[in-house]
Amino acid sequence: MIGLFLSGTGNTKHCTELFLHAWDERACAVPIESPDAAKLAAAQDVILLAYPTQFSNIPYMIRDFIHKNAALWPGKHVFCLNTMGLFSGDGTGCAARLLKKYGAHILGGLQIPMPDSVCDSKLLKKSEDKNLELIQMANQKLLAAAAQIKRGAFPQEGLGLLDHMAGLFGQRLWFYSKTRGYCNRLKISDACIGCGLCANRCPMHNLILEQGKAKAGDRCTMCYRCISSCPRQAITLLGKEIVEQYRFERFEQFERPHLSIDKHPKNTIH
Ligand SMILES: Cc1cc2nc3c(=O)[nH]c(=O)nc-3n(C[C@H](O)[C@H](O)[C@H](O)COP(=O)(O)O)c2cc1C
Ligand code: SF4
Ligand code: SF4
Repeated sequence: MIGLFLSGTGNTKHCTELFLHAWDERACAVPIESPDAAKLAAAQDVILLAYPTQFSNIPYMIRDFIHKNAALWPGKHVFCLNTMGLFSGDGTGCAARLLKKYGAHILGGLQIPMPDSVCDSKLLKKSEDKNLELIQMANQKLLAAAAQIKRGAFPQEGLGLLDHMAGLFGQRLWFYSKTRGYCNRLKISDACIGCGLCANRCPMHNLILEQGKAKAGDRCTMCYRCISSCPRQAITLLGKEIVEQYRFERFEQFERPHLSIDKHPKNTIH
């Protein structure tokens, strides 16, 4: 078994590592941007595919990966996991339906509320305590789901017809244009000091340094990793200014002891 994941601000990475470890402690997690991701997955029968919801849809990088690796899916057993700030409807179903077309067997789906990653919008912002609470609830849900799977029952969240209708009419239909392809709308302000952090971290290699300033291309998958990391808060996408940068790692030091899961290892290989 293997876990493939996209994670901009760390939520999905955390959920993948914890869930995978609780389900099968021999399994490794691999970021989707790793050049070896498809090759490593090809050697496994069971694949956990995890990603953040974007407008009740799949990030385009995940859709692109599924299409580009069409030969990977026939006969594979895939479990879809998506993280979300509030609501995804059929966030797992969007990938599951596509994977089925490529011949994969869908084992199940899990949709996990986590803190909101959209740093330049006030919409879903919560207090630090509320975010911590969300993470603790997510941890409990992931551990319970893994225990359920070990008993032979796979959760089916986001995979039914009603979920499909909720995702479609609740959000996707109105925002479909945002996830139809890669995005070219990243804005970088004059505050940029050319430190290069964003370019080093972008999973799409969509940022370069030119004459001492960061410059964005047109292949952004809207993961918010650069936006959440820029030391000058110089990058925005959906909003006009940074409201609050979010990264899961901020919570790492204090959420684990509370749940007594501090033995959970970092099982991601890069
Ligand atoms: C462009 C974008 C669109 C998003 N759309 C939704 C959404 O439709 N519903 C939702 O509940 N959360 C939405 N979110 C929030 C993320 O899905 C959520 O915070 C997720 O856990 C982030 O995961 P990550 O840290 O692994 O990147 C969106 C985030 C981004 C960046
Ligand atoms: S991380 Fe921010 S300051 Fe550093 S190069 Fe990128 S935009 Fe500029
Ligand atoms: S440019 Fe920024 S938001 Fe876009 S894919 Fe790269 S790191 Fe993510």
